[in-house]
Amino acid sequence: MSDQSLYGGATHKRVTIRDLAAAKMRGEKWPMLTSYEQMTAEIFDEAGIPVLLVGDSAGNNFLGEENTIPVTVDEMLPLVRAVVRGSSRALVIADLPFGSYESSAQQALATSVRFFKESGAHGVKLEGAHLEQVRALVAAGIPVMGHLGLTPQSLHQLGGYRVQGRQEDGDVIVTAALALQEAGAFAIVLELVPAKLAQQITAALTIPTIGIGAGNQCDAQVLVWTDLMGITKNPPKLAKAYRNMRQEMLDATAQWAKDVATQTFPGPENTFH
Ligand code: KIV
Repeated sequence: MSDQSLYGGATHKRVTIRDLAAAKMRGEKWPMLTSYEQMTAEIFDEAGIPVLLVGDSAGNNFLGEENTIPVTVDEMLPLVRAVVRGSSRALVIADLPFGSYESSAQQALATSVRFFKESGAHGVKLEGAHLEQVRALVAAGIPVMGHLGLTPQSLHQLGGYRVQGRQEDGDVIVTAALALQEAGAFAIVLELVPAKLAQQITAALTIPTIGIGAGNQCDAQVLVWTDLMGITKNPPKLAKAYRNMRQEMLDATAQWAKDVATQTFPGPENTFH
């Protein structure tokens, strides 16, 4: 691994969007993870993950909602602040909640400014091809990550969590990706699209693509951290669990509860005299 490497590189400076552009030029593939609070931010940052996304997936992975739609800006702000504080190297991206950016460039700017001033975010992500919004944010100095394919905030319009771009809508996604790049986006998440389409978009763009359920030819991959660690109860097919942390946590909890019942905890090493 060279000092320049995005994943786990030796530099302790915050990763910037220029580093992501340079990685695309080098052909380096890199990982992005979601994080919603301090501890996972610390761990993923220590592991060398270069970009942390405080996704609105906080809704159904942290806040107990059914999906991402109900999440509000006021709920997201403290989560983003915790992830910024918990990390020292990762670029931290705040996901703009449903209803906080769609109506105008002014609305998107006002929301993003809150994330910059009140949480210390280094960039924002928004779903769909809202080009005026992207231009206004970039003009104001706010890096923007796009998100195409399955855009979960449009769940009801799309008729469920379905693969996008299998038919003519594939061309629509290609056109939208090129337009987002032209508008100034620094990267684009491609969610739940056929691998071939993601590969075509990745080749056509000079900015990085970040895949989730989009095959292995994207420039980067993102996962929801609870899916990666095997905590999510019913994980989606696009995810792979690398550990069974749900079982680990159940076992640890049961062991501790038993130790309490048998007065094995606290032991002498946890006792004060
Ligand atoms: O909110 C989120 O976690 C996301 C990723 C799945 C890309 O948007």
